[in-house]
Amino acid sequence: MPRVLSCIQPSGAVHLGNYLGALRNWVLGQHEADAFHGIVDLHAMVSVQEPGVIGAQTIELAAVLFAVGLDPDVATVFVQSHVPEHARLSWLMECTVSYGELSRMTQFKDKTAKGGTDFVPAGLFTYPALQAADILLYDTDHVPVGDDQRQHVEITRDIAVRFNQRYGAEVFRLPDAVVPKAGARVMDLQEPTSKMSKSNSAETGIIYLSDPPATVAKKFKRAVTDSENSVRYDRAAKPGVSNLLDILAACGGGDPAALAGDFTQYGPLKAAAADAVVATLEPIQARYRELMDDRAELSRLLRVGAHKAEVVASETYRRATEAVGFLPPG
Ligand code: TYM
Repeated sequence: MPRVLSCIQPSGAVHLGNYLGALRNWVLGQHEADAFHGIVDLHAMVSVQEPGVIGAQTIELAAVLFAVGLDPDVATVFVQSHVPEHARLSWLMECTVSYGELSRMTQFKDKTAKGGTDFVPAGLFTYPALQAADILLYDTDHVPVGDDQRQHVEITRDIAVRFNQRYGAEVFRLPDAVVPKAGARVMDLQEPTSKMSKSNSAETGIIYLSDPPATVAKKFKRAVTDSENSVRYDRAAKPGVSNLLDILAACGGGDPAALAGDFTQYGPLKAAAADAVVATLEPIQARYRELMDDRAELSRLLRVGAHKAEVVASETYRRATEAVGFLPPG
C-alpha cells in the first residue's frame, strides 16, 4: 500500500480552496493508501503570534478534518508538535538545503516582497526544511496538495536526493505531489487572478467552510467577472468566469469547459456555483457542530493519531541520524 502524507496549517478558518485543492482528496484517498495527515502548528507560528490562538485553531481544524470525512479508524490525523521528530529532523534538513535554494522559493519571495510587516521571522525562510521533514519522516510516496505546494514537494525531493547521496544510504523515499484535476487552484472571488488564501484575500473573496448558505450566495453574487457577457472557459482571458466554472465542476461534477455551454449569462452561472457549494458544505457543517460538542473525544483521537505517527517518525529519524553518524548516547 502506498504511503500518503499531507498537512494543513491551523492558521485561520479553512476555505474552499483548502477543501477542493487538498482535503477532499485526502478523504477520497484514505482507503487506497496508508494515510497520514498533520495539523502543522509549528508552521503556523510563522504567521500567528498571539498566545493561545494556535491551540484553539488546532482543535477546530481537527474537527474540520473529521467533518469532511477523514475516518480516525482509517487515516492517522495528528498534531505536528505532538511528534517531536518533526522539529528534530528539520535541523538536519536545514543543513542539507542551501541558502540559495531557500531564497528562490516563491512563497518566501512573495511574502517578503509584499512587505507591510517589519518583522520577518527566520522561520519564514527555513519553512521548506520543516515541510521536507514532515514529508520525509513518513516514507511518503504521494503528497496530495493544491497547485501552490508543488514547489515545496520539489525542494523536498532535492533535499532527499542530496541527503541520500551525501550519507551514502537510501534513507529517504522520494515523494511525488498529487494535484487534483478540478480545484487545484481555487481563485479569490473578488480578485480572480490571485489564489483564494487565508492571508491575502479580503473576506468577500473567500468562501469559508463555515459560511452559512446566505453568505455563500451573497459572495457568489458579488463575484468579479468581466464586462464581456459571454460564458466561456478561458483562465487567462476570463479568470473570474473560469473560476466559477471550475468551482461548479469541482462541487457539482462535470468538465468546466463543457459546463460553460449550459449558461448564456453570468447571473445563473453564479447562482449554480453557489448552490453547488452550499450542497457540498451543508453536511460538513452539520458534522462539524456535532464534533465540536465533544472536545475531549477530539483530543483523544489526536492522541491516538500522535502515537501512530510517532512509531513511523521515530524509526525514520533514527535511520537518518545513524546515516549521519552521530555518536549514539552511551
Ligand atoms: P496550507 O495550510 O496553506 O493549505 C492546505 C492545503 O490547501 C491547499 N490550498 C489550495 N488549493 C487550491 N486552491 C487554493 N486557493 C488553495 N489554498 C490552499 C494547499 O495547496 C494545501 O494542500 N505548507 C503547507 C502545509 C504543509 C504541508 C506539509 C503540506 C506543511 N507540511 C507537508 C503537505 C505536506 C501549507 O501552508 O498549506
